[in-house]
Amino acid sequence: MAGNWDIRRYGSIGSTNDEARALALAGAADGTVVVAEGQTAGRGRAGRNWFSPEGKGLYCSLVARPGRAKEECPSLALVAGLAVCDACETFVEIPAQVKWPNDVWLAGKKVCGILTELVARPNRPIVVIVGIGINVNLRADDLPAELHPTATSLAIARGQPLDRELVLQAVLRTWALRYGKWRAGGFAALRADYYARAAIEGHRVAVSFGTERCEGIVRGVDERGALLLERAPGVVEAIIAGDVEAL
Ligand code: BTN
Repeated sequence: MAGNWDIRRYGSIGSTNDEARALALAGAADGTVVVAEGQTAGRGRAGRNWFSPEGKGLYCSLVARPGRAKEECPSLALVAGLAVCDACETFVEIPAQVKWPNDVWLAGKKVCGILTELVARPNRPIVVIVGIGINVNLRADDLPAELHPTATSLAIARGQPLDRELVLQAVLRTWALRYGKWRAGGFAALRADYYARAAIEGHRVAVSFGTERCEGIVRGVDERGALLLERAPGVVEAIIAGDVEAL
């Protein structure tokens, strides 16, 4: 999927993930992209909202028909994270990092969140909606107070605003490269690239999933992209999904 995009552009809509899902259910092909100027019901992980003011960020969702096993699809969040890192670094000089499983950080603050959602139906090929929200032109005073300690934007990091269309084009280009590699070889083909950008390696973290919570030291990811958490000396558990908080 290099340059062969079907880009659907919207003004302000509820959530680009919802629109992409509806298009996918109606048969939209791999490479369909939903882009909105703003979102009134932008969704984050674990039921959180995604702050999506009009004209400030990049809010897009890609329809992916991966042609790989369903069990491998959670790693697409990491693939998207790597692609966003590559794209960010064409605009800012700060190294971008992936914070497992779905954040991109610049200088320790979140610049992008990724929400992948599986569309699985009996006897039908898997579809994954890859939702990407990048804080592009938000200034510090655009961000809600509670996000100040943890969030940033490309414009804050660069010291000047950017053309959001160029950011979209960069993301599509880098996604095509990373996704192509993943389709051919699974996450194993990208694992070394992930390590080069991993934000929380060796850190003590808490991982929560629903009402469950555990703590440990991050010891990498496995070939599926699951987080390897050392919960006690020598006892390493692979965690497929969860929210990670550095302690
Ligand atoms: C997170 O960090 O919790 C994930 C945030 C994902 C936000 C993006 S914005 C585009 C797409 N549409 C949504 O409703 N969510 C994703």
